Amino acid sequence: MFQFNLGELKIIKNGFTVPFKIGPKQMFDFATHPLWSLTTLLGGIPKPMNYETSKNGNKFVRSESRGATDWGTLKRVRDAWKGKLIIKGVMSPEDAIKIKAEGVDAIQVSNHGGRQLDSATAAIEALPLIRNALGKEFPLLFDSGVRGGSDIIRALALGADYVMLGRPLMYGIGADGEKGLRRILDIIKDELSTALGLVGLNDINHVTSEIIAKKFIQNMKY
Ligand SMILES: Cc1cc2nc3c(=O)[nH]c(=O)nc-3n(C[C@H](O)[C@H](O)[C@H](O)COP(=O)(O)O)c2cc1C
Repeated sequence: MFQFNLGELKIIKNGFTVPFKIGPKQMFDFATHPLWSLTTLLGGIPKPMNYETSKNGNKFVRSESRGATDWGTLKRVRDAWKGKLIIKGVMSPEDAIKIKAEGVDAIQVSNHGGRQLDSATAAIEALPLIRNALGKEFPLLFDSGVRGGSDIIRALALGADYVMLGRPLMYGIGADGEKGLRRILDIIKDELSTALGLVGLNDINHVTSEIIAKKFIQNMKY
């Protein structure tokens, strides 16, 4: 369980609190993870840059999180990380073009499920604009607001290569654990199959912008 306010961070299940407090459970953890204990002893306890703790209360440091992230951050991450790099939360074609030019491997078009900025543009509306800006081949993932099979097909038709789901899977798990997750996936698979049939297709790989009325995607090239 997770309890949070600006003054206190507590994860009840594991007894974790900020500021960090040492008790018998932590002593046991140190003893059973000697390598971690030694490196932490030598290097110091890791401190989040964006969360200051003190006896007088804890607070977020905005300038160290969102406020400090800029194009230089992306360059540094790209230089430091030689593996695949995907940037999530992209909503503007101009940003997408710059991100691609920085050598990123894929972009996830997303407004984080509309949870961050209440009045943000719908991610599904940004998707075809971003596909058009990046060309046919650049890998695009998509999420935010996908609730069923026809939403998946719509996102594929508007330019996504991969479609992700967030809360629907969580709701399934919340309702009935692993069984609930399987059930929601089965429901979505069934809906997907029905919706494919209704747009006159029987293979998901054949979905293109052809199935979308042209007035909605006047400039769509793919
Ligand atoms: C409770 C919750 C917490 C989330 N936290 C993050 C986060 O820390 N970082 C992030 O990029 N997205 C976060 N997301 C957004 C998801 O990664 C994902 O983009 C979103 O849930 C997809 O939309 P959907 O839930 O409508 O399918 C969060 C979503 C939920 C529901």
